Amino acid sequence: MSDESRLFRTAAVVPAAGRGVRLGPGAPKALRTLSGTPMLIHAVRAMAASRAVSLVVVVAPPDGATEVKNLLAEHALPQGPPHGTDVLVVPGGETRQESVKLGLDALPPGFDAVLVHDAARPLVPVDTVDAVIEAVRDGAPAVVPALPLADTVKQVEPSEDGSPEPVVATPERARLRAVQTPQGFDHDTLVRAHETVTDNVTDDASMIEQLGLTVVVVPGHEEAFKVTRPLDLVLAEAVLARRRANDGF
Ligand code: C5P
Repeated sequence: MSDESRLFRTAAVVPAAGRGVRLGPGAPKALRTLSGTPMLIHAVRAMAASRAVSLVVVVAPPDGATEVKNLLAEHALPQGPPHGTDVLVVPGGETRQESVKLGLDALPPGFDAVLVHDAARPLVPVDTVDAVIEAVRDGAPAVVPALPLADTVKQVEPSEDGSPEPVVATPERARLRAVQTPQGFDHDTLVRAHETVTDNVTDDASMIEQLGLTVVVVPGHEEAFKVTRPLDLVLAEAVLARRRANDGF
């Protein structure tokens, strides 16, 4: 890695404060295990796997910061120079957006770029992380990894009473992308977005769009899927088993 890239300081904020109700009853989603290791630990390792990332801020469930600190101590990352990654833990908020803001607030000064990565995407490959950082380093204020869609998407008029929902529109599938994380940002731009955009959003890049700035897309990866429903746990275990078989991971 060049001297120039070493000087470009990158931190990752990992929101992990969600309950994960769609996964069924149990521990907060980020603390559920995959192959015996909490999902959050996989996600933190995925960020630390990038040599460009020198700090990971984990945003813990509001009542779970101590538990998360203990877990991180149990599953410590390699420390110290030249490639050590520091980890900070802060308590999260009511919404994902609030949790990300609390993570950003905890960043020490001096970072040029920030990644925001869902703890619920534990298996994102390092090449995807590096591609996002590279695009921010090349000057994009916001970068999202994304994949084309397999399904056709319909916009509907949601029904309150369970009756069939009428279709309102069918966006052209070839122009749609499913967006993943980590999303990468110029640090100051993301801070400004969190200070000015108050609408509830489901990803950080849409706040940058609301500032009128351009968000660019880099190729996502099928292994960066979000663990949301019980079947996703089966898929995640299969991906880990394949990695173990392929490279002894
Ligand atoms: O709910 P959703 O699947 O969009 O959550 C995405 C990520 O945001 C998850 O990693 C979850 O833990 C996190 N989150 C959070 N604080 C909340 C809600 C969600 O950190 N209040």
